[in-house]
Amino acid sequence: MKNTTLAIIGVGYVGINLAVRFPQFFKTFAFDIDNEKIDSLKKGIDLSEQFSTEEISNSGCIFTSNIEILADANYYLITVPTPLDSYHKPDQSRVLEAVEGLRDYLSPGDTIVVESTVMPGTTKSIRELIGRDDIYFAFSPERVSPNDNFIKFEDIVKVVSCDSKDKLRDLEFIYNKIFRRVELSQDIEASEFSKLLENTSRDISIAMMNEFYQGALKKGIDFKEALRLARSKWNFPNVDKGLVGGHCISIDPHYLSAFLESKEDSIILKARRVNDLMVSSLKERILEISKSGDKILLLGKTYKRNCNDTRNSRALLLYEELKNHTDRIVESFDPYTDKAKKLTDYREYDLIVSLVAHDEFAQLRKEEWTEILKPKAVILDFAQVTPKGLENQFKVYY
Ligand SMILES: NC(=O)c1ccc[n+]([C@@H]2O[C@H](COP(=O)([O-])OP(=O)(O)OC[C@H]3O[C@@H](n4cnc5c(N)ncnc54)[C@H](O)[C@@H]3O)[C@@H](O)[C@H]2O)c1
Repeated sequence: MKNTTLAIIGVGYVGINLAVRFPQFFKTFAFDIDNEKIDSLKKGIDLSEQFSTEEISNSGCIFTSNIEILADANYYLITVPTPLDSYHKPDQSRVLEAVEGLRDYLSPGDTIVVESTVMPGTTKSIRELIGRDDIYFAFSPERVSPNDNFIKFEDIVKVVSCDSKDKLRDLEFIYNKIFRRVELSQDIEASEFSKLLENTSRDISIAMMNEFYQGALKKGIDFKEALRLARSKWNFPNVDKGLVGGHCISIDPHYLSAFLESKEDSIILKARRVNDLMVSSLKERILEISKSGDKILLLGKTYKRNCNDTRNSRALLLYEELKNHTDRIVESFDPYTDKAKKLTDYREYDLIVSLVAHDEFAQLRKEEWTEILKPKAVILDFAQVTPKGLENQFKVYY
């Protein structure tokens, strides 16, 4: 393959991962309509905090807010947001705008690859929107999990779908440079559907655990112990209870239910409600184990561990609920959003609630916990970050 030039459209949490890796193999542009983001990247600053200044500056990527220079590219990878509108319906307008914005710069043989999560049929609609037989269209769902140390980026299996066999082969060659395994399909709609299946299944599994957790609490069962035992069975799902926020798991089920025209009683929408209700159920639990005027510290504001992303964060929502609608004195700390402070700067709490399992919390030693808490304090270790043995000194709930 000659003269392969890539243009990544949208350099957020997902796009930046492609922008730092592809230039080793192909000339790569990374374009964003957010000029501030591009200016930061040109200075080597990644606002998503996944890459160091050195990694950004040495990547060789051409960060740009000038769409005209993208005319030199022949593969356009679309990684723009796909949120919900105010009625909780899919809002794919940014994908359509991004593709429409490229119209004047496309040349015969170019390929547009949609990586954003979309409703099945969207790639086909985009092809119709552009209305040219000499342009190829593909879909390759993103599976990156920013700052996740459970899987290395290159070990993520990359699904790539395209209805042209030749282009599919070219895309396999391109993606294989940065992903060890590429899973190919000529069925674009099945591939679009697969992404929604992945994230909706996860949402439903977490909802199931959240419901079991609340049931166990009501009946006085130690859920943590029950889960440990259940997990000793080989095929028990490796999922736990949790707060579900962010840009994917809490959003994509709405894309699937809109596509399937699901009724309110569908398992997809029920699971969404169960997971959303975790905020109020945690609030009630906190009120039960604390009293009026107690000083409470919530640990974690982001929607997931080891990441600075607060989009749709349920931990933040819980904080606002407790702070504004209860008579407790509530503070919240997150090492990713409150950079000027350390957890050990906080003192004298009656209750600490862990909400996000950041490494910084899990690495805290027993003595450090002791310094933050009052002698008779209580811990609600929802995110399970406390060290062994702390329960000998404080009442620890899970
Ligand atoms: N964040 C994740 O962990 C994750 C994981 C898997 C899939 N996804 C999916 O990937 C897509 C992108 O998510 P993200 O988290 O990177 O979003 P993001 O908001 O972090 O980044 C998107 C970027 O696109 C830019 N943008 C918006 N409209 C544009 C346009 N018309 N032209 C150029 N740039 C434009 C925005 O300014 C932003 O910088 C979404 O569909 C999401 O569901 C995200």
